[in-house]
Amino acid sequence: MKEDLQKLIEAAKNARENASAPFSDFKVGAALLTNDDEIFTGCNIENASYGLTMCAERVAIFKAISEGRREFQKIVVAADTEDLTPPCGACRQIIWEFCGDVEVVLTNLDGKTETMRMSELFPRAFDSKFLK
Ligand code: THU
Repeated sequence: MKEDLQKLIEAAKNARENASAPFSDFKVGAALLTNDDEIFTGCNIENASYGLTMCAERVAIFKAISEGRREFQKIVVAADTEDLTPPCGACRQIIWEFCGDVEVVLTNLDGKTETMRMSELFPRAFDSKFLK
């Protein structure tokens, strides 16, 4: 439903406000929708030891996983860029692992949005099916 997507987008934008990004000054928010229509949000959290930085998408997913949720419908990524910001490579691997071929909605602060599936963003993924 359109209204539900708008709510998820607003949740991602609000989460973005909580970003701790003193090094890049690049704030990102994410909102993950479970199969039961619950929303888990995340923002990027940077560290002076740069490699320890955690992206918004992974924060949202790890929050949901740690609360026992396992089934997801879609994830929204919000950033303040004209060219909509997609999940980084590490996040694509994590989204694929825990959410599979979900819808990914990219959005910016001007209300521009674009929807795609993980299989488009992350073709020929490495996953557990190879670990046999
Ligand atoms: N970042 C995210 O949180 N998600 C993305 O999809 C792209 C990048 C963060 C990581 C870092 O804090 C900042 O954006 C700049 O790379």
